[in-house]
Amino acid sequence: MATNESYLRVNGGKALKGEVEISGSKNSILALIPAMCLGDGEGVLTNAPVISDVDAMKGILGEIGIQLICNHSTVKIKGNIKYNVLSKQYVSQIRASNLFLGVLLAKFGKAVVPLSGGDKIGNRPIDIHLYVFEKFGIQSEVVDGYVKCKATHFPYQGQNIFLRFPSVGATENAMLVASAAEGETVIYNAAMEPEIVDMAILLNSMGVKITGAGTPVIRIKPSDKRLIRADHEVIPDRLEAGTFLFMLAATKGTGIIKNIIPEHLVSAITILSDSGVSIKTMENSLHIDARNCELKPIQIEALPFPGFPTDLQPFASVYALNCNGTSTIKDTIHSERFNHLHELSKMGMVNWSISSNTMIQGMQKLTGTSLNGTDIRMAVSLVMAALIAEGESRVYGLNHILRGYDNFVQKLNKLGAEVVIMDKEPYDIIVQMQCM
Ligand code: UD1
Repeated sequence: MATNESYLRVNGGKALKGEVEISGSKNSILALIPAMCLGDGEGVLTNAPVISDVDAMKGILGEIGIQLICNHSTVKIKGNIKYNVLSKQYVSQIRASNLFLGVLLAKFGKAVVPLSGGDKIGNRPIDIHLYVFEKFGIQSEVVDGYVKCKATHFPYQGQNIFLRFPSVGATENAMLVASAAEGETVIYNAAMEPEIVDMAILLNSMGVKITGAGTPVIRIKPSDKRLIRADHEVIPDRLEAGTFLFMLAATKGTGIIKNIIPEHLVSAITILSDSGVSIKTMENSLHIDARNCELKPIQIEALPFPGFPTDLQPFASVYALNCNGTSTIKDTIHSERFNHLHELSKMGMVNWSISSNTMIQGMQKLTGTSLNGTDIRMAVSLVMAALIAEGESRVYGLNHILRGYDNFVQKLNKLGAEVVIMDKEPYDIIVQMQCM
């Protein structure tokens, strides 16, 4: 358990080298667990990441009467939903808790769920979720930090729903409610992220008939029987894989990233290959060699899948610091996801500006210092910056990293990084892995 005083001590200036095995997807499992809640019986998720966001899910499920039993990379779900009201205790910890609106509405036709938490990366409205509910005849209001929803008629009728933006969470909520509606629902301009496909595969195994997941038009036909939980293997975490890809490239290292689905990473692979990094794509791994490369500047625009993921944008920003020339970074998904740049300026980064096209001058020398990460990707991007900087850095915000990265420090140590978890200043080392 990381405290506010916990930090990572990083000794920078060393190229990463070796192999890293990618865990199951955080964003997928956070959608698969709510999907499991629609069924009866027992279901097992394998290749589950061991992260604190899953612990938060366990707390939420406990409040509605469902058991989540975690054992290493296996998560078992059993029990039936008994309650349709959630407290703030666990919901406030993660963004994906807003999927319990869909779960409880599918089951009971009414729900009271606090506004969800998650990363502080700007305003994160839920108007598209509420629009989806409205289409099914559900009235919603936000009162004192709680979203209160009630169906005007239940069970629901299938609907044609056009999303003004392909929101991942709103697409997932639409799939959950549609699974309990009578007749077909069609979602137009649906999110196409691999996590949507993963959720559709699980719901289909439970008895729903979903086609088109992974395209902008998803069709959902409910089952005429009760949904029964199924066993399912969580897809590999494309965002964790992308993180290590950028880290290996930015440190001019070499290595193999294993247990991935390469098609999920096409945008990042293309950007780094075009920048001069040698990347060989195998069936379920990537071989990266950035030794002796002159890295060309990059032009990034974060977009919905299959565009470049906003979650990898902070790593692209840090990578740009090592490129020969000026890179441009644009994030239209989370336009306020640039907090990492303020911290990087403490390391000596100069000549940067946050605008619709953030410019980052390359070939900059960073010096190790004390840094504070306030969301998952930001905190990890600061570790990445510390790895390319000269000297020692302290990166605070370990609790954010543990939310989404399974065995992060151990994996970095296996790649030769000198990173140690410290629980308080300056001598109390709680984990120290030897460099391999
Ligand atoms: C999911 C991912 C997150 C990723 C994001 C975009 C999970 C747990 N999280 O978050 O890691 O960064 O997709 O790929 O899966 N929006 C609205 N109104 C809404 C909903 C969204 O305006 O009702 C906006 C958001 O403010 C944001 C954009 O749409 O600017 C994307 O949000 P969305 O796709 O919903 O992301 P999440 O599901 O929250």
